[in-house]
Amino acid sequence: MNRFDEAAKTWDKRQVSIESSDACVQDLLKIVQLKNDANILDYGCGIGFIAFALKNETNNVTGMDYSDGMIDVFNEKAAKFELDNIKAIKHNMNEEKLPSSTYDLIISSKTMHHIKDTNMFFQKSYDALKNDGILCINDLDKEDGSFHKDKGNDGVEHFGYEKEDLLTIAKSIGFKIVSYDIVYNQEKNKQIYPLFNLIVKKEIR
Ligand SMILES: C[S@@+](CC[C@H](N)C(=O)[O-])C[C@H]1O[C@@H](n2cnc3c(N)ncnc32)[C@H](O)[C@@H]1O
Repeated sequence: MNRFDEAAKTWDKRQVSIESSDACVQDLLKIVQLKNDANILDYGCGIGFIAFALKNETNNVTGMDYSDGMIDVFNEKAAKFELDNIKAIKHNMNEEKLPSSTYDLIISSKTMHHIKDTNMFFQKSYDALKNDGILCINDLDKEDGSFHKDKGNDGVEHFGYEKEDLLTIAKSIGFKIVSYDIVYNQEKNKQIYPLFNLIVKKEIR
C-alpha cells in the first residue's frame, strides 16, 4: 500500500485540491476549445477532481493512477451516478506504456513531480496524443523542498519546476507551446506555493 491509498479515503475533503483543480480546469477551458466527443486522459487522476469536471454527456474520460485506493474511490463515484463514459484504471507511468495516438487531451495535475524522468513523461504523453492533441500539466512552481515536508518528501522526485526547463523539454520532444500561466497560489507552511498550467500541443504538419 502506498501513501496515496490511505490518503484516498479522505481526499474528497481537501478543499485546497478542489479549488486548485477548479483553477486548473478554468484556465484550460479558457485557452483550449475541446470537442464535445473528446477522448480525455487525466493522468494521476486521484479520486477524479479534474476528470469529473471535464466530463460531459458525449465525451470519454479515463483516469489513470497507480494507487488502488484512488482508483476505487473514482470508480465508486462513477458507479454511484451511473456514468458509463468515465472510468479509472490502474497504471504506473514508470513501468507501463500508454496507448498510442489515442487522446485529444491529456491533463495531469500535481502528479508529474512524483515521476523522476520528466522527459519520459512528456514523451509517453506525446505518443499517446492524437495529432493536434493537447497536454496540460498542472504542477508546482520551483519550491525549496518544504511543500511536502509534512510527508518527509516521500515519493517526491522534484521540488517543483522551472518554467524554462519544462519549455525546453516540451519543445525537444516536438510539442508546440500554447501557454504557461500561474493558475493558483497555494498557502501552506506560512508560504505561498504557485501552481502553473503548462499547455502544449502535438502538431504534426
Ligand atoms: C498529489 S496526487 C494528485 C491527485 C489528483 N490529480 C488531484 O489533483 O487531486 C498525485 C497522484 O499521482 C499518483 N501517482 C504518483 N506516481 C505515479 C506513477 N508513477 N504512476 C501513476 N500515478 C502516480 C498518486 O497515486 C496520486 O493519486
